[in-house]
Amino acid sequence: MLKTDQLPYLNPVTDRRVALITGGNSGIGFYTVLELYLHGYVVYIASRSKSRVLKSIKELKREARAIRLQYTAQQLTSERYLGELYFLEIDMVSLQSVLQAVETFNTLENHLNLLINNAGVMSLPYSLTVDKLEIQLQINYVSPFLLTTKLLPLLEKTADAYPNIEPPRIVHLSSIGHQFAIKYFDMNSTFHYQPNVLFTWFRYGLAKTAGIHFMKLLALRNPKILCLSVHPGFVMNTNHFTYWTRLPIIGMVFWCLFQIFGFFFGVSNEEGAYATIKCCLDPRLTLENDNGKYFATGGVELEPSRVARNMDYAARTWIWTVHQLSERGITIPN
Ligand SMILES: NC(=O)c1ccc[n+]([C@@H]2O[C@H](COP(=O)([O-])OP(=O)(O)OC[C@H]3O[C@@H](n4cnc5c(N)ncnc54)[C@H](OP(=O)(O)O)[C@@H]3O)[C@@H](O)[C@H]2O)c1
Repeated sequence: MLKTDQLPYLNPVTDRRVALITGGNSGIGFYTVLELYLHGYVVYIASRSKSRVLKSIKELKREARAIRLQYTAQQLTSERYLGELYFLEIDMVSLQSVLQAVETFNTLENHLNLLINNAGVMSLPYSLTVDKLEIQLQINYVSPFLLTTKLLPLLEKTADAYPNIEPPRIVHLSSIGHQFAIKYFDMNSTFHYQPNVLFTWFRYGLAKTAGIHFMKLLALRNPKILCLSVHPGFVMNTNHFTYWTRLPIIGMVFWCLFQIFGFFFGVSNEEGAYATIKCCLDPRLTLENDNGKYFATGGVELEPSRVARNMDYAARTWIWTVHQLSERGITIPN
């Protein structure tokens, strides 16, 4: 396993590589941005809250300065430049907001080297978004699908314009929770049943499985772009669990349960971000050998569930999504 400081560093003045990450203002996303910034990437943090991003940019710069103070003199002179950090507005509960973010991004940059679909929510109660899609499915899967497919022309243009550097990459945050999507996978399943504490996991599993399907099929359809999916590990001190821990009274019980679970099985934010960082920066990952793969905690390559690696299901998931978007007036080119 390569340490993060063994991954390549760039000089943004001579080799300006651009990354776009959704939800990079907290949790695993925050530490992913920190490493990309330390490695010289120009990073756009796409988020629904400008104030949260500006606050996190300040923290990122402070953390980066502290880390650089620990560099040896040799490391400081060995081309370790900081990148740049910017805010991009996006709200994944709205397809129009995703389209607007793509439009804005296209006016700001003429290439894109890394797209990280990191924003996500977990085990929320059943509700529909403004686009009449189940909320977990839209934030974890449909909006990232739309964002990615609308940015594909730019990613492909980047691959063509820079044939001598590594190809663009798409990294999609899935979860071990994709295993909740069981046999007889059907994207039309709403799992709109009670109790929420049980059925919400099936909705989460469906969305996270669809994300793996997406990366696997995209890898086949777009052989110029390296498409990978990730389970980061159980990272208990992110905001991912706040729906449960903020419930009145019972929230304390959930908090204690999550802490106990985290003590035995959890990893830190930095460790949780490692699989994503490896998928973004490890030069040993190639189009020929690795496209469509799934990496888990610590960057270990794993086979996802049978349902997630079933390419018939993957094709059906793609068609279902294109159809849903088309019903909402959005065309995804073939
Ligand atoms: N933590 C774990 O144990 C774990 C395990 C498996 C997979 N994952 C996956 O890892 C990814 C990162 O999770 P995390 O643990 O770092 O959780 P987190 O701290 O809650 O981060 C999630 C990020 O997604 C953003 N987000 C949520 N809804 C959004 C929306 N409608 N529009 C735009 N951004 C939105 C959040 O922004 P706000 O700050 O505005 O809310 C936040 O920046 C997720 O995809 C998650 O499913 C996490």
